[in-house]
Amino acid sequence: MTAIGKPLDRVDGLLKVTGQARYAGEFADPDLLHGSVVSSTIARGRVVKIDASKALALPGVVMVLDHLNRPKLASYDDAFADADAADGSPFRPLYNDRVLYSGQPLALVIADNLELARHAGSLVHIEYESEAFETDLLVRQEHAHASPQTPPKPRGNFQAQWSAAAVSLDVHYSTPIEHHNPMEPHASTVLYQPDGTLHIHDKTQGPQNCQAYVQKVFGLDKSQVRIFAAFVGGAFGSGLRPQYQLPLAVMASLALKRSVRVTLTRQQMFTFGYRPRTLQRLQMGAAADGRLLALGHTAIGQTSRFEDFSEHVVEWSGMLYHCDNVQLTYKLVPLDVFTPLDMRAPGAALGVIGLECAMDELACALGMDPVQLRLINYAERNQNEDKPWSSKALRECYREGAERFGWHLRNPEPRSMREGQQLIGWGMAGGVWEAMQMKASAKARIDAQGKLTVSSATTDIGTGTYTVMTQIAAQASGVAVKDVTFLLGDSSLPTAPLQGGSFTVSSVGTAVQQACEALNAKLLKIARQTYPVFEGADTVRFEDGQLHTGDVSVSLAQLVKDSGEEALAVQVDSEPDKKREGYATATHSAVFVEVRVDEDLGTIHVSRVVSAVAAGRVVNPKMARSQILGGVVWGIGMALHEETQVDHQLGRYMNHSLAEYHIPVNADIGDIDVLFVEEHDEIVNALGSKGVGEIGIVGVAAAVANAVYHATGKRVRDFPITLDKVL
Ligand code: MOS
Repeated sequence: MTAIGKPLDRVDGLLKVTGQARYAGEFADPDLLHGSVVSSTIARGRVVKIDASKALALPGVVMVLDHLNRPKLASYDDAFADADAADGSPFRPLYNDRVLYSGQPLALVIADNLELARHAGSLVHIEYESEAFETDLLVRQEHAHASPQTPPKPRGNFQAQWSAAAVSLDVHYSTPIEHHNPMEPHASTVLYQPDGTLHIHDKTQGPQNCQAYVQKVFGLDKSQVRIFAAFVGGAFGSGLRPQYQLPLAVMASLALKRSVRVTLTRQQMFTFGYRPRTLQRLQMGAAADGRLLALGHTAIGQTSRFEDFSEHVVEWSGMLYHCDNVQLTYKLVPLDVFTPLDMRAPGAALGVIGLECAMDELACALGMDPVQLRLINYAERNQNEDKPWSSKALRECYREGAERFGWHLRNPEPRSMREGQQLIGWGMAGGVWEAMQMKASAKARIDAQGKLTVSSATTDIGTGTYTVMTQIAAQASGVAVKDVTFLLGDSSLPTAPLQGGSFTVSSVGTAVQQACEALNAKLLKIARQTYPVFEGADTVRFEDGQLHTGDVSVSLAQLVKDSGEEALAVQVDSEPDKKREGYATATHSAVFVEVRVDEDLGTIHVSRVVSAVAAGRVVNPKMARSQILGGVVWGIGMALHEETQVDHQLGRYMNHSLAEYHIPVNADIGDIDVLFVEEHDEIVNALGSKGVGEIGIVGVAAAVANAVYHATGKRVRDFPITLDKVL
């Protein structure tokens, strides 16, 4: 019986489509109070006075919390950090009178219902003392400082090789601020228990991260805080850190000894982390035959004044191609803004735009096919780490992707392919993402009915975790999929890392597999003690909920009964595979894109995408394909639509709503073809699965940009590529 590799439907699908899946802001309590956040309208300065008298005068308004009347907190005066914290001092809501950015939460109105709370919030009058501020990365780029997380040291002699190269280029790209905008806004429902403990339904990618945070901030014991996140309506990184609605809801709940819910509005979804704006410079030097002799990648990103957010923007340029003379530089500019936050393929989604657009420009300068240029410079080792790859089927991605797309029919000349008014462009790019593995624990429990329950404190942010963990457990235990239940999203379950970084299958999946194997060992021991036929049996197998040897079998349910226990359970703590140590591990992709650009109007339509992905063993091709589809759609958005626009006079976002923050809609998306190439990897982890959460987005924006160039002959290096820039 093989459960792994099957395109199983989502095991939680029925709950979702019938509305039975409940999200953080949907849990009821007869006594529930509702909070509404009042946000700062200035970008920097001080709160002089908060006048809440008009709000408090309304019947049903219970309280207005601000920095002066909030409850005393245990560790607001010390640094506290969470599992995905940036360097520096985390933002502390309602800490003091300082205003650090526009949109900062300054007060929380608590009322009997949400409408009243929001109306009352509009009546809270705040007096400010404004100070000069700067939110524009361009203006402050000369003040960039080195990131605390430094890229790999230079290798070879970049400068000399670059200056002497037969063909060289020096190009600048920029990418805008982007916001995660998951469909479900952030929300925390704090259910105040009769014994004073807190049950909190939170929108998060890591319930234990939020539990530790609440514990530390409020000086509570672990047993007093339990965090649930059974369903998460998208996150993309926005739930990696506890967001401010969580401490605000807890503050109110503890102050009032009542249950409290705080949900953020869509506008307020723009008042915390985001993908930072970057300015990038790519310098490449190549021999006439296409060999890369020198590669320099400099990126400047923005951060806040209170934390240094860093991500891997330039690293990819030192590993995707073979090059002996490499210089990577990454700097940060502190601005009067909130700290950025990891967002799907953090760093890679940005840096690979610069790298892969520059590779296309180099191919044009050399008069060489862009796929050919990449093959000439294929990296057999990860030169950043000086390690061989555990596996790397990128050549197969190029080949199979090109074949599926029909790349050989491409006329390399820009503006050479058209249909009436439509200029047709074909572009491609490569992608890379890490294949990480973290420590994780899981518990497997089988009852006397043969039902298996496996659990771990991970989350399913829409990725399909419930489903793939069910498959991994079924495969490892020999219990039928229908008899397996996977539990997640509860801080009281065995320890799991944040769901992120594409490492949930490799980390939690490995723990699930090991827990099931350990449970089987326990069942086998009982069989050997109970049935003579199993006593000396060399070969046994677990299949269809039975233990077999030869043509004898006994059901696992019977073995549980034989044990005299109600159920048998095993918990394991799994570690990253030791075999990984000598290797570099990554997923790779090749993306091929067709765009149609209206010659008169400059409108760009992405009519076809082929994404070929090498990610090791695919646990569920349906879920995995969905992950890649989502990534491709987002990559198209990065190329053509997404941009959080800032009014730098006000230090404030202008398009903070889904009406004005542009993302692709169905009409923007053409055919997307996803293919997974064969990749066998026994080193990356016991499952051989690398994870597909992020690789789908990487390289897509560059492939679209390269296709736009091929269609029009125009390079737009300032993202997104809107029609005004193309015309
Ligand atoms: Mo992802 S940015 O690791 O949630």
